[in-house]
Amino acid sequence: MKILVSGAAGYIGSHTVISLLENGYEVVGFDNFYNSSPKAVQRVKEISGKDFPFYEADMLDKEALHQIFKAHPDIYAVIHFAGLKAVGESVQKPILYYHDNLTGTLNLVQVMEEAGCCNIIFSSSATVYGDPKEIPITENCPKGICTNPYGWTKWMQEQMLIDLQKASPEWNVILLRYFNPIGAHKSGEIGEKPQGIPNNLVPFLTQVAVGKRPKLYIYGTDYDTPDGTCIRDYIHILDLAQGHVEALRYLDQKEGGHTVINLGSGKGYSVFDIINTFEGIMGSEIPKEIADRRKGDIPISLADITKAKKLLGWEPKYTLEEMCRDSWKWQQKYPEGFNK
Ligand code: UFG
Repeated sequence: MKILVSGAAGYIGSHTVISLLENGYEVVGFDNFYNSSPKAVQRVKEISGKDFPFYEADMLDKEALHQIFKAHPDIYAVIHFAGLKAVGESVQKPILYYHDNLTGTLNLVQVMEEAGCCNIIFSSSATVYGDPKEIPITENCPKGICTNPYGWTKWMQEQMLIDLQKASPEWNVILLRYFNPIGAHKSGEIGEKPQGIPNNLVPFLTQVAVGKRPKLYIYGTDYDTPDGTCIRDYIHILDLAQGHVEALRYLDQKEGGHTVINLGSGKGYSVFDIINTFEGIMGSEIPKEIADRRKGDIPISLADITKAKKLLGWEPKYTLEEMCRDSWKWQQKYPEGFNK
């Protein structure tokens, strides 16, 4: 079964391609390398021991998407990761985010429709819940008010796919809402390399640990949580990648419609839990300072993963310790990411 992966060189895309190849799927990948590197593709091929067609192509270039479908008329489904994803940048450049993320998805579904491919798994985010009405968060929790344009683009792309599916029942849509993916491939050969200053806790922390940044700022210790810092649902990137393989199996069985599924570990950890786990692994202290709350942060984000377990037969298997160990392995091996 042939699967087209958009954003295949990115953090989640590259790990998912490995899982797909390991599970016997044929993969066609593309990426514009805006926030990723051709080296990731090369390493995915080395790790998996498999070659696959890969295109340097931009979602905004509709003709390039046409050409990919023309070369591969047997694409069964698309896993759509490509998009801009930096929360801070989206606040500075909202129009860029709305334009690129929404236009990219519109181009993709138009080209898919013309090619007769109506199966899509979309990479969404728990950010669409806004400040959630319930904890743990089930998929029935209503979508909320997003705190940044990046979040709104996920919200809107979901809605576009839901409306498309309602109008054209031949579409079969799965919306995967990720919580906080961290960790890296066990080999340490691929991992997360954000552009510029990392927004997220773990990439920032590992850059401090490796000496690239002077200290970690802990954004707020006065939340209504046991240790005063925010709680998040961290999930190992390898568990997340495997979730896509199971989602594809499910997509193949189910009869159309759209299905929303949370992918998290179902376990909550505070900022201090993460720092303590890393310090335990490294055997040394990370330079850190308590700072003010970060605007837009919610105290607790935690997934109810009952639906994923039930529908996908999927279960996350990695511990927090393994997530931190693998992030650290990748960061140590490649302090500059794919540049070195
Ligand atoms: N944090 C720090 N210091 C840092 C970075 C983060 O203390 O340098 C704290 C944050 O304040 C928060 C926690 O660490 O309490 C986690 O922050 P992240 O930025 O790692 O993760 P978020 O949950 O804020 O955001 C992530 C993704 C979004 C996605 C969202 C989904 O970055 O893209 O989860 O819920 F939308």
